[in-house]
Formats: sequence, C-alpha cells, structure tokens
Amino acid sequence: MRAVVVRAFGGPEVLEVADVPVPVAGPHQVLIRVEAATVNPVDLATRSGVLAQAGLMPARDMIGIGWDVAGTIEAAGPGVTGLVPGQRVIGLSDRLDVPLGTQADHAVLDADAVTGAPAGLSSAEAATLPLNGLTAAQALDRLDLVPGRTLLVTGAAGAVGGFAVQLAAARGLHVVAVAATEDEPLVRDLGAELFVPRTARLGEAVRALVPGGVRAALDAVVIGAAALDAVQSGGAFAAVVSGAAPPPLRGTRVFNHWIRADATRLSDLVALVEKDALTLRVAGAMPLDEVATAHRSLAEGGLRGRLVLVP
Ligand SMILES: NC(=O)c1ccc[n+]([C@@H]2O[C@H](COP(=O)([O-])OP(=O)(O)OC[C@H]3O[C@@H](n4cnc5c(N)ncnc54)[C@H](OP(=O)(O)O)[C@@H]3O)[C@@H](O)[C@H]2O)c1
Repeated sequence: MRAVVVRAFGGPEVLEVADVPVPVAGPHQVLIRVEAATVNPVDLATRSGVLAQAGLMPARDMIGIGWDVAGTIEAAGPGVTGLVPGQRVIGLSDRLDVPLGTQADHAVLDADAVTGAPAGLSSAEAATLPLNGLTAAQALDRLDLVPGRTLLVTGAAGAVGGFAVQLAAARGLHVVAVAATEDEPLVRDLGAELFVPRTARLGEAVRALVPGGVRAALDAVVIGAAALDAVQSGGAFAAVVSGAAPPPLRGTRVFNHWIRADATRLSDLVALVEKDALTLRVAGAMPLDEVATAHRSLAEGGLRGRLVLVP
C-alpha cells in the first residue's frame, strides 16, 4: 500500500509516498481502509523534525505521517467489541511510537481511538473532527466553566479555535473571539458574542469589552502572556502549543493541554455534528501524492478549514 513518510527531516520536499506492507491489526486494534486523512500543524512539526528534537519520537529510518482518519473498517483484531468490518468510522492516531500514520491507503488504530463516523457527511468532512474537535473539547473540560462565564478564544477562525468557539457557546459560555478582522463574520457565525481583532495589546482590548476581564482563555495560537492579561485574577488559561503557557500570574490556573484519543468523547462530538451543533470545515481535498503542496499551503496560513488527503 502507499503511505506518506519521511526518511529525513526538512521542508515539504522530504515527504514521500512510499510503498509499504499493509499493517496488521493486533489485539484491541482495527485495520481501517482510509478514505480521508487531514493535514494538521503536527504533521509539519513531525516532518521538520520538531517532534523528534523534543524527544517525543524514537529514532527510526522511516516515520509515517497523519493523525486524523475517516474510512471503513476492514478487519478487527482479537478483543475488539463494538467495531465491525464494513463500518464507517473516524479515529485518531495519537501514538508517536508506531511506524505509520493515517495518510496511507490503510491504517491500524487502537480500537479505543475509533468511533462511528457522523451520518450523512463525506469522509473528507468527517476526518476533520478527531484531532481538533477533541483538543478543543478536552481543553474546555479542563477549564471547567459553568454556563454564563466568559471565555476568550484566540485563533478562533482556526481548526482548534473554531471548534472551541462552537463547543463553548453550546455550553452556555459567552465567547470573546480573537481573529483577523476579515474573520469576524465567520467566528460570530460559529457562536462568538464578542469579537476582538488581533492586537498586541490583547488584555486592554478585551477588558474594554468585558470589564474586569474574562474568566478563562483558550489560547489556540501562541499568544501566551498577552492573552493571560485578558483573564481576571484567579481565572484559568489553557495553552495547546508547547512553550505557549505563560507563568500563572495573579493566582490564575495555567496549563498546557495535550490531546489524547478518546472514542467515547469523540462519539459525543459526532452526536453534536449530527445535530448540526458542530460544523466541519474542509478547505480542500487532494490525492496522497500532493501532500507536499498541502504542507506548503498550511504553512502559508490563511486556510479556513482543513486540507484533506484522499488516498
Ligand atoms: N496540544 C494539542 O494536543 C494540540 C492539538 C491540536 C492542535 N494543536 C496546536 O494548536 C495550534 C492551532 O492548530 P490549528 O489546527 O487550529 O491551526 P490553524 O487551523 O492553522 O489555526 C490557527 C489560527 O490562528 C490564526 N492566528 C495566527 N496568529 C494569530 C493571532 N496572533 N491572533 C489570532 N489568531 C491568529 C490563524 O490565522 P491565519 O491562518 O490567517 O494565520 C488561524 O486561523 C497549532 O499550533 C497546533 O499544533 C495542539
């Protein structure tokens, strides 16, 4: 089968579509025929060597790329319950110790990282949900805000930020979104009540709209201390990028959230998608061998929605 891999770290030119054996589902794993796999910032970090330099992946001759997947189960290993061959599923490959990712003709995932795909949506749309939907949902869970509180979301037009705005609004939070001026209609459509265009003096700009500051912030870009300035003393701050968590000034609770695959939480998100309470956004779909083009487009910025590889 074909799989996107790198054999050396570098720019998009090191990406290769290699011919590799079809992987086999072990105990508590499933083999998925891949119909769509998104391209995410973490793929750029894997390809450039940032993850390896951080000591997060073992040295290997060849590293597979891709976290999100939508497809059809082809085989289930021993011990798998509730997932059967022929079933349309989505899942998240969050393990850095395995040789191949989801950007391939087939992918093996742990069964507890896989759930049924949302009905009535394309595989390209469905594949945009796991990584960024779960990151937003899990970070919001940890922020633990009661309805009526005010939440600042930075990078609100992006994948993590967009899901965070929608999920927070659905929880009854008042969302203050930070994005580029031209993204105001988009983020308001996603559920933001208040909008702040990108500015270096974020604390001041947010406090002008929300006297006393917001209760919490979910920083989906690397804004850090300037976003914490907008949070009231004793509030909470979630960062999702390594090194982006500022010191917990003024009695705030600051944490870095790292995604973990969770089929149960993912199926909650699927239910929201099926109720039209969560929007899946695809910026474009392309064949596997255009993966380098996808990396270049994502690195340039300005995409609204995810690029999806379709084997
Ligand atoms: N911790 C985890 O487990 C985890 C999981 C998933 C993602 N992440 C990380 O989360 C980050 C966001 O991922 P993503 O997939 O949401 O990326 P994305 O879709 O590219 O979204 C980032 C958004 O932030 C915008 N932006 C850039 N600078 C900004 C600023 N100063 N103020 C406000 N908005 C700004 C971008 O706009 P432009 O496109 O116009 O530049 C874009 O809309 C990435 O670094 C990713 O690696 C972490």
